Amino acid sequence: MHLTKTDIQNTPRIQRLNIINAITGIKPANLIGTISDKGETNLAIFSSVVHLGSNPALIGCISRPTGEIERHTYENILANGVYTINHVHRDFVKNAHYTSAKFERHQSEFAHCQLTPEYLDNFKAPFVKESKLKMGLNYRQSIPIELNGTVLIIGEIEHLIIDDQAIEGNDHINLSNIQTVGIGGLDTYYALNKIQQFPYARINELPEDFNA
Ligand SMILES: Cc1cc2nc3c(=O)[nH]c(=O)nc-3n(C[C@H](O)[C@H](O)[C@H](O)COP(=O)(O)O)c2cc1C
Repeated sequence: MHLTKTDIQNTPRIQRLNIINAITGIKPANLIGTISDKGETNLAIFSSVVHLGSNPALIGCISRPTGEIERHTYENILANGVYTINHVHRDFVKNAHYTSAKFERHQSEFAHCQLTPEYLDNFKAPFVKESKLKMGLNYRQSIPIELNGTVLIIGEIEHLIIDDQAIEGNDHINLSNIQTVGIGGLDTYYALNKIQQFPYARINELPEDFNA
């Protein structure tokens, strides 16, 4: 298949959406937990979570355009300044997927999708109890992407909770051990298996067989 820009523009909306959402490869599967100023909890699956920097520890995610459709996650983040990002694992992938349904503001995806809210003292946003790798973030900045009305939401990690099962040595996190999953497009979930680990790549330490 070879699609030009014109072909892409002429592709029916759903087909285009499925193709273009899938072509960047495997995306991380995370649930974003928030709470409104009335105390209503909210949970939504996001595939756009991205590392922005380690010092300070900044994480970004893209929120779809605001407008006619309410964006509870973004509104709650702006209202309270805190949110959580929780890995999705193989054993609750279905629960996680259905958080994307358009629930009303007063309907909690935690209850409707059978996931358990969990709190840390002095941190208002709910974590997902079932998740083995989760972060509590303080909202830092929004950057509007004028090209399509989406918003890059940036937060700084305040709490990082990782199940010991995932940690190898001092600092290596093996996502296979906790069965974190990946997302293709908007409807497909993949298991992730660790296949290799390499040292920091230096020009003078290339693998010997590269010289052959
Ligand atoms: C696999 C998958 C990935 C998604 N990723 C995102 C995303 O990165 N950003 C986003 O704004 N919505 C994303 N969505 C859509 C939200 O989950 C959906 O709009 C949800 O209803 C938002 O809930 P809220 O209004 O409670 O924030 C995704 C949906 C699915 C099924």
